[in-house]
Amino acid sequence: MEDHANLAARWLAGAGSIVALTGAGVSAESGIPTFRGEGGLWRTYRAEDLATPSAFARDPILVWEWYRYRQGICAAAAPNAAHAALARIEERAPGFTLITQNVDGLHRRAGSRNLVEVHGDIFRARCTVCGANRELTGAEEETIPACPGGHTMRPDIVWFGETLPENAIAKAHRASASADLFLVIGTSAIVYPAASFPLIAKDRGARLVEVNPEETPLTPLADLSFRGKAAEILPLLVDRAFSRPVEDS
Ligand code: OAD
Repeated sequence: MEDHANLAARWLAGAGSIVALTGAGVSAESGIPTFRGEGGLWRTYRAEDLATPSAFARDPILVWEWYRYRQGICAAAAPNAAHAALARIEERAPGFTLITQNVDGLHRRAGSRNLVEVHGDIFRARCTVCGANRELTGAEEETIPACPGGHTMRPDIVWFGETLPENAIAKAHRASASADLFLVIGTSAIVYPAASFPLIAKDRGARLVEVNPEETPLTPLADLSFRGKAAEILPLLVDRAFSRPVEDS
């Protein structure tokens, strides 16, 4: 672990172009449930009832109530040390791109700016007719928000069976293809196309570093794997990379 941490820190300090892909695990220590692990949302709720276009067509109130419930959890949560460490990489490594599957807004709240939210934003709504998009302000909102034209709005989230926003995909693809270091943090890496970004980077010769308490389908491809919590591992790597001289290993 010690040698691996020094090596990863050296890669971080020396990389010309760094990209990270994060998933629900990065927010686990902020108290936001993941999807598939112990206590994961998809173990309690059926995605088919809540996170598909047909679920929304069938019962928009139920879907909105579920998203309001999750918004409440996200609004009450605070960014953790992993979010802060990623924001610090951006400060120190110009051009760092952070691709996240998370919709909780915690990366932005931690200070990350070059952020690609490929699955949407739980605090935004989008009109199902005209596409108008706006921020939700919270408790005063009606159950089903409407656009200025009076049409029904839906959560601005990518649901199962939907394609990702084109500009987000293009940006994530471009960054991945030119990365020389790619960090994969807190994702089960089974939801595509998000899980393809590290593969694109690896294919183009990037080094792959994984941080996850569990193995994932990407583990065999990783140049280094840290089996641990993001909020413990990432600050350690970033500290070593950017605060102190990194020892040879
Ligand atoms: P998952 O719930 O599938 O996976 C969470 C991952 O985080 C698992 O691999 C855990 O081992 C890991 N993990 C748990 N605690 C951790 C910690 N403290 N530090 C680091 N890792 C930890 O979540 P995602 O991979 O994000 O899509 O799921 C991908 C997509 O599937 C989500 O964006 C969501 C879901 O359906 C949409 O909502 C569109």
